[in-house]
Amino acid sequence: MLRQEQNELLTQTGPGTPMGQLFRSYWVPALLDEELPENDCPPVRVKILSERLLAFRDSDGRYGLIDEFCAHRGVSLWFGRNEESGLRCSYHGWKYDVTGQCVDVPSEPHESGFCQKIKLKSYPLVKRGPVLWTYLGPPDKQPPLPEWEFATVPAEQTFISKRLQDCNWLQAMEGGIDSSHVSFLHRGDLGSDPLFKGAKGNEYNLSDMQPHFEVVEQPGGLYIGARRNAENGNYYWRITPWVMPCFTMIPPRGDHPIHGHFWVPIDDENCWAWSYDFHPVRALTKRELDDMRDGAGVHCKYIPGSYRPLVHCKYIPGSYRPLANKDNDYLIDRAAQKAGKTFSGVAGFAIQDASLQESMGPICDRTKENLVSTDNGIIMARHRLMRAAKALVDKGIAPPGVDPAHHRVRAASVVLPPDQAFKDAAKEALTARPGVAQSTV
Ligand code: FES
Ligand SMILES: [Fe+2]
Repeated sequence: MLRQEQNELLTQTGPGTPMGQLFRSYWVPALLDEELPENDCPPVRVKILSERLLAFRDSDGRYGLIDEFCAHRGVSLWFGRNEESGLRCSYHGWKYDVTGQCVDVPSEPHESGFCQKIKLKSYPLVKRGPVLWTYLGPPDKQPPLPEWEFATVPAEQTFISKRLQDCNWLQAMEGGIDSSHVSFLHRGDLGSDPLFKGAKGNEYNLSDMQPHFEVVEQPGGLYIGARRNAENGNYYWRITPWVMPCFTMIPPRGDHPIHGHFWVPIDDENCWAWSYDFHPVRALTKRELDDMRDGAGVHCKYIPGSYRPLVHCKYIPGSYRPLANKDNDYLIDRAAQKAGKTFSGVAGFAIQDASLQESMGPICDRTKENLVSTDNGIIMARHRLMRAAKALVDKGIAPPGVDPAHHRVRAASVVLPPDQAFKDAAKEALTARPGVAQSTV
């Protein structure tokens, strides 16, 4: 349970808020690289941390993320013309480059130098892996580029999608570190989803509904260990890393790719669920990629017409809104629920999570919760976030997770004898090691 002011502190990320300042310490995913597929392609609206921005790729291939609105009289530059190394406002023709600098005001004599005095807010936009990343903080504090393993393995080993989620980022992120719900909400899918099924670990997940949680601090955040009974008195551990502020990774199952998420605030009532899949040592198979694009595993199907802009339809701007959403009650199937095919009646991991997290309301009221021991990871993550925000605001201390060394973590699933602590026995397994396979059951 949190006090009202603590809940507000954690859930508000707009400019000037403590959590907003914390989020502005990190590189965060802004767009899929396929959203800006070629030079001079249409610009894309991006709302992030409650700021309305516009991303574009100019004639020279440079990426820009600038204020959405023209400095002249405030119309949206989304309607602008992207040509000749800049974006020209469709109202009176003012033109901006990727840094937000105004480079032409057609109504004024060029010699007047008027346009040089006009500059829109802008942020860096950098491709790393299949993602365009941005950093919204002070330029003198900009950290090195992120080194998450999914973004640094060869391109054929990784896949990422994003979906719009109609709720605050924190309740979505808390789902990502809440390993205990898997035995309930997702139990019907563990044996059938092509990106999860067939692993021995699934049997432990389904047979022990009372996992014991052990949460340990790590430099960038936490390792959340969920312990379930295995054979001969041994324990099956599923270990979820959380790296501040919003990166989570699901422990692997068999040789399936490793899945995980970034939970990025759009504003205080909406977030992006970025969902990645990568394999540390092999290319993803065509079958796996087809399943991911079809919405299996942690991905989802989209509303027709707002489908991911893949090569064959690359200029359809994607809303990335799931096909099953709150307007259609997530296509709940009560017969499937009754028959035990799905626990909640909603199909697929991603929408099972989204439906319940959105059902809490746009911002969950944490003053009314009754937390239990399986919520320890969530409790510790909230306190770590509050501490880090306070240290940053009061003393200017850079928060955990800014250092790229903190990104080199892995999730792991292992069977250990009862006398071994996971933080020691699985130490190597919890570190990203290029060219080394994941530790998985
Ligand atoms: S509003 Fe953009 S040029 Fe006038
Ligand atoms: Fe889930």
